[in-house]
Amino acid sequence: MSSSPRPAPRLLQTGPLVPSLAEPLNARYTVERLFDHPDPLTWLRAEGARFDGIACSAGLGFSADLLPLLPALQVVSSYGVGLDKIPQDALRARGIPLATTGGVLDDCVADAAWALLMALGRRVVEADAYVRSGQWAQDGLNQFPLGRRISGARLGVVGLGRIGQVVARRAAGFDMRVAYHSRRPVAGVPWRHEPDLCALARDSDFLVLITAGGEATRHLVNAPVLEALGPRGYLINVARGSVVDEAALLQALASGQIAGAGLDVFDNEPAISAAMRAAPRTLLMPHIASATEETRQAMAQRVIDNLDAWFERGELVSPAL
Ligand code: DGY
Repeated sequence: MSSSPRPAPRLLQTGPLVPSLAEPLNARYTVERLFDHPDPLTWLRAEGARFDGIACSAGLGFSADLLPLLPALQVVSSYGVGLDKIPQDALRARGIPLATTGGVLDDCVADAAWALLMALGRRVVEADAYVRSGQWAQDGLNQFPLGRRISGARLGVVGLGRIGQVVARRAAGFDMRVAYHSRRPVAGVPWRHEPDLCALARDSDFLVLITAGGEATRHLVNAPVLEALGPRGYLINVARGSVVDEAALLQALASGQIAGAGLDVFDNEPAISAAMRAAPRTLLMPHIASATEETRQAMAQRVIDNLDAWFERGELVSPAL
């Protein structure tokens, strides 16, 4: 007797996904897009029982309201590593596993932190504008403002997860002194743990934020931390905008309380404030720390590999919950 083939699992896509993921996802699975429906919750109330999995992006995530409308949900596969837009508690309560692209993007996010650090310290963007504007020819040699030495400087890393450890490891190539702040010391790493964030800021030339977003770290970097970083300290944020009190940061930049900031993430991105766009001594990037051709392709593949592993073998390649 031949058994009828199992129907392809149905996925709910909760927000837009890059074509390099959406296309192969559609080729392998039956995918429906929640955001195509003008009243998504009403539609889901009628149709939600059909979905076995969610495919989402870490940047947009989805709201906990969806979960009671998805009684057959088995798994969530997210493009990215951030958990701040994913209803972790509600998933945990239902015992639904979450996969992210953890491990795939660590190098590129760390590289982006370094790109900001070096560009800030050596004034790369200002220097480019100076040469292009013709100002160099007018001023003559040796008039461009001096940068800051990176080799041998002091690096503070806030958050020593997988990406934080890559950021710290890269510093060995620049003979930097590295210390880190996290809730608990991380076992087996060669860098000094500093439990007091203000003390770490005071002792850093470059303070790199790569901690998880969410309520637990909201405004972790506030006015006292910025004051401790001081007029020779640079702030680099490749974590989440919410980790920094943006009003305090704008004030610190305007008053020269810190040397400058390199930011890949913001409050209310992509519609960041006019004040932030005009802030002095800042380098701003449009949340692209993981955005290289190689890594974005690997992330798309990992979202699919996690779903395949779940529906074929009941396991995940990179579980996050
Ligand atoms: C991530 O992986 O969380 C990126 O920051 C995209 O949101």
